[in-house]
Formats: sequence, structure tokens, C-alpha cells
Amino acid sequence: MTARSDQFILALDQGTTSARAILFDRAGDIHGVARQEITQHYPQPGWVEHDADEIWQAQLAVAKTVLREHDVTAAQIAAVGITNQRETTVLWDRRSGQPLHRAIVWQDRRTAGICDELTAAGDAELFRQRTGLVLDAYFSGTKLKWLLDHIPGARARAERGELAFGTIDSWLAWKLTGGRAHVTDPSNASRTLLFDIHRRGWDEELLARLDIPAALLPRLVDSSGLIAEIDSAWLGAPIPLAGIAGDQQAATFGQACLEHGMAKNTYGTGCFLLMNTGQQPMASRHQLLTTIGWQRQGRTTYLLEGSVFMGGATVQWLRDGLGLISSAGEVEALAASVPDNGGVYLVPAHTGLGAPYWDPFARGALFGMTRGTTRAHLARAALEAIAFQSAEVLQAMASDAGQPITELRVDGGAAHNDLLMQFQADLLGVPVVRPQVTETTALGAAYLAGLAVGFWQDEAELTTLWRAERRFEPAMADARRSALFADWRRAVERSLHWARP
Ligand code: G3P
Repeated sequence: MTARSDQFILALDQGTTSARAILFDRAGDIHGVARQEITQHYPQPGWVEHDADEIWQAQLAVAKTVLREHDVTAAQIAAVGITNQRETTVLWDRRSGQPLHRAIVWQDRRTAGICDELTAAGDAELFRQRTGLVLDAYFSGTKLKWLLDHIPGARARAERGELAFGTIDSWLAWKLTGGRAHVTDPSNASRTLLFDIHRRGWDEELLARLDIPAALLPRLVDSSGLIAEIDSAWLGAPIPLAGIAGDQQAATFGQACLEHGMAKNTYGTGCFLLMNTGQQPMASRHQLLTTIGWQRQGRTTYLLEGSVFMGGATVQWLRDGLGLISSAGEVEALAASVPDNGGVYLVPAHTGLGAPYWDPFARGALFGMTRGTTRAHLARAALEAIAFQSAEVLQAMASDAGQPITELRVDGGAAHNDLLMQFQADLLGVPVVRPQVTETTALGAAYLAGLAVGFWQDEAELTTLWRAERRFEPAMADARRSALFADWRRAVERSLHWARP
């Protein structure tokens, strides 16, 4: 199929805080965006839920809005790609289409006890080997178990085939196809704790460990391919659903990190660093996750992933928790008003520390304050903390891979902070490169869908579409970098295990 110039790819980007719909043209440029917030429910401390119906309604609404506002008809959409907040767990009735419970969000910690029990039973290594994941409440498997344990009659109904489980991609695909397609792709499946990333299939033994009936599970499809047809009732014409990927994997694809060793960092609420490790899964020696990036034409690309829990959230905390700034945008100028951190280190372990520490009991701490410390030093320490944490993950990746990383591609809100990006390059000693299109998550989903319908020809073409907007070259002396890291590590050491009972 040859793509016409008046055609677009529609990416549906269902993130933790909002539903977005973005139209991309053949140059990979944005033609239009529509966005709607999602309600966050916090029924108990540590619990986070979303209303799956609200997610669907919001996603449909933004898709309609972006078409209407930009005078684009459904016939001009060559394909739709879905990308989504990962791990968030939905359980619904196949007949009525009604969710049985609010979706349990990836941030929800209610199943930490289940993970502890499985670890005590000696199962952590089995899960790690098969799934590439750490046995943690972050992932879907224990969330689904919790739903089956707590909703009366749910497990029996699941065994009879009356119920469906899905991450948000499955839920949206099911809705978009009027219940005809109950599918997921390997990038999302690899976040469930139920999926063998080596055999690339659901794993009976892991399902048995979690007491989850196989009848609940979606069918696996490639991340890029003709997956199903979207019901014409929704956008006015049947459109191929041709791409599905979890948001961080999609962003890696959208950053055109298509070769072994290429890495990206998304600076959102948290930071998600992912590195392409080619066609073989790479086990980490530093508690990084091994995960599937995408599957295309039957070929699977694997990634190493490390997550930092408090990225941009550190700046939000300065604003909302401390009242130090009135908007997040102020942080850069405030931090730039002092020449350095003045010896102040902020460890933003407010919700524990992720990779490479995985310490749920670490807590936030400030070190090195003197009478000369000002709010500007705190602002600087907050930005630097984002870069230190990201650098530690990247160093772990390079060590696992046995080769240095030669550049870091960046996106997400805080990637627009030039001070932070320069400091990141200085700390890493490698260039940090910001692309012209920083909506890389949606772009990745669009690329996956567009490749499947011939809108773009191949990955080589995508590589030519990726264009740098700015390149931050490292400019810090090695001795200074080593001294900063040494102090940062001393600060982290002191905040580890702080809240352990
Ligand atoms: O693993 C969670 C991640 O997919 C969430 O991403 O961008 O929705 O916060 P985001």
C-alpha cells in the first residue's frame, strides 16, 4: 500500500494521568493533539485505582476531538496504534463488557504481602528467570490474583471462561473492536509476571503459582501487524488497529533506538531508562529488568530497563510539598541562580528507591546543608538528584552490556530543562540528545502501526525521520564528576533501609 499525503496515523496514548490522541503525518511530525485527564482514586494508603470505563470514554473522546479539530476524517487514518501505561490491571465480564472492579494501577502497593509470601516460598528466582522481572507489586500478576481472591465468585467465573483479564492495551483493543479482539502484545505481556520472555508465551507454572486460570488471558499478537479492525461505530469508518506497545517500549521505538546498545530516558513523573539489547534477552547483574521491546514480523527485540520512581515528581514535591516554587517551570532559573549545589544532596527516596537499589524502605533525605544553604541550592540538588539516579541506572546498563553507551536520547517533560540535560551529560560523560519530536511514546505507537500498513517502509526509514533538536556535550572534568558521585553515593547509603520496621 502506498501512503497518500493527506493520510495520517492516529496514536492513542493512554498514560497514568491522561488519555491522549495524536495524529502523525508521513514525516513523523505531529498534526494534532487532544488530551483529557484521568481521575486518580486512592482508596487506602498505597492503593491507586483507575476507572476502566472512564479510561475508555476519555480515550474515545480525545480520538474524536483530534479528528474534528483538525478536519481529518476516519477515511484519512491509515491505521491506529495503541500505547499505554503498563502493568495496570483490568478484569471484565466478557458478555456485558463491564469491569468487575476499578483497574489496579501499576503504582499500587497492596500486593506487596503476596510478593513477600512468594519470595519466602522461594519463588523469586523462578519468576526472575522466566519473566525477566523482579517479584514486586509493580507488575500485573499479583494484582490479578488479588482481584480473583477478593471479588466473590470471580475465580470460578474465570475458570468457566466468563471473564477477561487485560492490561490497558487489551482493554482498549477489546472496546475498540466491540469485543471481537481480546489481544495483547509481548511488550505488555512481559510486564505481567505471567509471561515467559524466552519462549514468548503464557507460562502454566507461573499461572499455577498465582492461581490464575488461563481462560482469562488475551491472545498474543505482534506489536506491529494487522491486529483487528476498529468498529466503524466509533470514528465513522473501519480503521485497522495495527500497533500495540507499552508506553516505555513505544518511546524507545519512537526514539529510533533500533540498534543494539542504543538507549533512551523518559523524564516523566519517574524516569524510565531502556536500552536495546538486540534479539537476545540479557539477564542483569544489577537488578535491572529484562523486558520485551517489540515484536515485529515474528522477530523479537529485547530491552534492559531501569526505573527511577521520583523524576519530575521531585520538582512537584518542591512545589506542592515544600511550597519552594509556585510552578515547576521556575525550578530551572532558581537552580541556575547558584553556581553549584553548595554541597547539598537531596535523595528523593520518598517512595523507596527503584533500580538499581530496589529498596522499598529507603526514604527521602537532605544532606550537607549549612547556614549558607538557600532554596536555590535545594532546587539545584533536586534537579541533580534526577540526573544522579538516571546516571546510576545507565552505568548499571553499560556494565551489564559490557560496553559503554555512546549517547542518551531523552524525552518527557523534564527533558526540556536545559540545566538538567547539561548536568546529565556531564555526569554521564556522554552526549545527551533531545529530538525535535519529544512525543516519542505516541510516535513509537504510530511507527509500529504505520509500518504494518506500509505508511512507512521499514526501520531504516524511521531512522532517517529521527532528528535531533539539541545535543548536550559533556563538559565536566573527570575528577569533579568522581567527587560528585562519591558524595551522592554517601547520601544514598544513609537513606537506605530508613523505614524498615
Ligand atoms: O510502568 C509504568 C509506565 O508504563 C507508566 O508510564 O508515562 O503512564 O507514567 P506513564
